[in-house]
Amino acid sequence: MISNRYLVALCLIPCVWVANGLAREGAEAVRLSALPPMVHPEDNPATPDKIALGAQLFVDPRLSGTGQTSCQGCHYHELGWTDAKALSPKDNGTLNTRHTPSLYNVGYQTIWYWDGRAPTLEAQILAAWKAQINGDPEVAAPKIQAIPEYAAQFEQVFGGPATPDTVVKALAAYLRTKVSDNSPWDRYEMGDASAVSADAVEGFELFTGKAGCAACHSPPYYGNSTFFNIGLEHGKENPDPGRFNVTKNEADRGAFKTPSLRSVARGAPYFHDGSAATLEAAVRYMASGGGADPQKSDLLVHRGLTDAEIGKIIAFLESLTSEESWEKPSIP
Ligand code: HEC
Ligand code: HEC
Repeated sequence: MISNRYLVALCLIPCVWVANGLAREGAEAVRLSALPPMVHPEDNPATPDKIALGAQLFVDPRLSGTGQTSCQGCHYHELGWTDAKALSPKDNGTLNTRHTPSLYNVGYQTIWYWDGRAPTLEAQILAAWKAQINGDPEVAAPKIQAIPEYAAQFEQVFGGPATPDTVVKALAAYLRTKVSDNSPWDRYEMGDASAVSADAVEGFELFTGKAGCAACHSPPYYGNSTFFNIGLEHGKENPDPGRFNVTKNEADRGAFKTPSLRSVARGAPYFHDGSAATLEAAVRYMASGGGADPQKSDLLVHRGLTDAEIGKIIAFLESLTSEESWEKPSIP
């Protein structure tokens, strides 16, 4: 990994992108990226061994209350790090009220959850450990520590035992490697004219122009940590207040975080309530100006797109799907 970093010193901007890609976990060939290098927090620097440990913990159901549910139980690689369900049952049997989001590029975000209630990825993971997999970190961490192979790994990585804090840190270091880049669209932008179809190129023009999508889904992430009301909750019996829950600001009622659209084609269904079954349904909803809610964002208006134009936007979004392999790690 280190030697790839030296490439950065040797070449100009395009090469920096390539070198960034090379340094990422799971890179089997040259990766192309428009994304900056991942920044790991000072109190949780990433090492290959820490990332490997996090990968194991992510698929280990022993962290959960029942011993049956791992983080992967709702975030599957082959489903774009989500789970193909509108709403998923938690380890304690109750149903989530919000759809499982993708974990792609979660390390680039600045605020977590659909309503932004977690200020750091580490805080988010601790909350998911307790809520989603119903774990008691004070009970589960010693269970992990009692497994000799894990104890040796924690000693090597952290110089100490598995604790709630070190388990969360390993998981966070791992999730920061869940990068979606190296897509056909990235290759196209870096000069490979044959990487995408003519429809995708026209779709990008629409996305950044007439369709007005890039106002919120701006490149290179095609999503950001800002919140908008797109009209999904208005008229529901128990509307989800979304961002209002956190800020208590009326203007934020019904607003949710703008998801990144990188690799979005893998992650149906869509929206915070999982109400759009297909990518086409989600794109049509957005292009038609969203739902009828007096508090809906002014940036969403009916764009009057033809079916052919909708198809081109979908072709563009499909070209944002990254290519990477993943193997379930074995756990001790
Ligand atoms: C039962 C399904 C389920 C399981 C299991 C699960 N999650 Fe999630 N995850 C969700 C849902 C639902 C949300 C969104 C909740 C919200 O925004 O209110 C979420 C959100 C997240 C986010 C925030 C993403 C973002 O864009 O802000 C991260 C990171 C995450 N989960 C990681 C984990 C980790 C780590 C574990 C294991 C400790 C885990 N999840 C287990 C369903 C699950
Ligand atoms: C006003 C800002 C805004 C504009 C403009 C906008 N979006 Fe969105 N988009 C969002 C937000 C916010 C969400 C999530 C909202 C929710 O679930 O409540 C979203 C969700 C989506 C999703 C679902 C992603 C997922 O993982 O669930 C797709 C697909 C999407 N938008 C595509 C588009 C397209 C295509 C356009 C242009 C026609 C567009 N958006 C315009 C803010 C915007």
